[in-house]
Amino acid sequence: MKKIIITGGTGYIGSHTVVEFINAGYEPIIIDNLSNSNINVLDGIEKITGKRPTFYKADVTDNFAMDKIFYENDDAIAVVHFAASKAVGESVQKPLMYYRNNLNGLINILEQMEKHGVNGLVFSSSCTVYGQPEILPVTENTPFAKAESPYGNTKKISEEIIQDTLKATPALKAIALRYFNPIGAHPSAYIGELPNGTPNNLMPYITQTAIGIRECLSVFGNDYNTPDGTPIRDYINVVDLAKAHVAAVKYLNSHKNDKQFDFFNIGTGKGSTVLEVINSFERSTGVKLNYKIAGRRAGDIEKVWADTTKANKVLGWKAEKTLDETTLSAWEWEKRLRVKSEELIVKSH
Ligand code: UD1
Repeated sequence: MKKIIITGGTGYIGSHTVVEFINAGYEPIIIDNLSNSNINVLDGIEKITGKRPTFYKADVTDNFAMDKIFYENDDAIAVVHFAASKAVGESVQKPLMYYRNNLNGLINILEQMEKHGVNGLVFSSSCTVYGQPEILPVTENTPFAKAESPYGNTKKISEEIIQDTLKATPALKAIALRYFNPIGAHPSAYIGELPNGTPNNLMPYITQTAIGIRECLSVFGNDYNTPDGTPIRDYINVVDLAKAHVAAVKYLNSHKNDKQFDFFNIGTGKGSTVLEVINSFERSTGVKLNYKIAGRRAGDIEKVWADTTKANKVLGWKAEKTLDETTLSAWEWEKRLRVKSEELIVKSH
């Protein structure tokens, strides 16, 4: 079976990607330091797939540990590199932590790939590299904007580090996937997003409000130049997003790929306003959401959605789930999470 090393494989996008690789007949090897995820995620993956992936608790910034893991898995055909810090606000408070984690981690992974002959990389990038594009939908030819945060800057710099490394190492190939806004959970509700503390992102804030952990969702601004005044994003189902990684690994190693480095937008191709997401949630779940219009959030852009033609054509990948299926999956996961934590509370008494 073809081995794939997946860093950050117990995280939100990582765990869904591990499932899709197992479903496609690969053998994922997870590396994760569990700093923002839980070991129980492995149980969820096993429940869905019937397989428990190999797991290394290790930090990608620990190059000695990476050397050992790559030595033991030098027959892997590719690395999918998710492990990174991802909270935009926190990155403004702790820039050095973000540069250290996100850049040192990537540098170590590239070094070990080179040393142990693991020649393919799929890198988690973000639409944040485009900032507020002038022309929508945004294609891969849109120039990078000045990064709004240290987090965003790490994604930009990471793509540059990869390209420079590839130039010096002809055997390596890489693909950067620029994600739009991943939301939702696996339809089984065995895995999903586990936000740390108060969520910053829209979808977990919606589900936590609906379940009663938060009192009210603030909609950050309704005076934007959009049909209902609230900002537009391209919300992509996390399972669809996970499948894009399988397509990327297949393409990376196929004879069709004549590029050493390539990059793709991974979104649905359709923008939705915040109010449309709320309406979808209420429609798909039948739950009424308590929300109010609040002031704009600093740093938010007005609108962005993807042109996904390149990923559709070249990778043969397309987002399939509807927004209603996705908002419902987020709700099913939230309900299961709360039942699980009540069970845990009961058990601990
Ligand atoms: C944010 C990050 C982006 C990152 C992405 C990961 C910023 C500026 N960008 O994107 O780099 O890749 O998360 O998913 O932080 N909203 C509300 N109320 C809330 C929360 C959000 O109205 O309580 C609105 C926001 O104003 C925005 C939309 O919902 O219009 C989506 O917000 P969010 O989920 O935080 O994602 P982004 O800001 O697009």
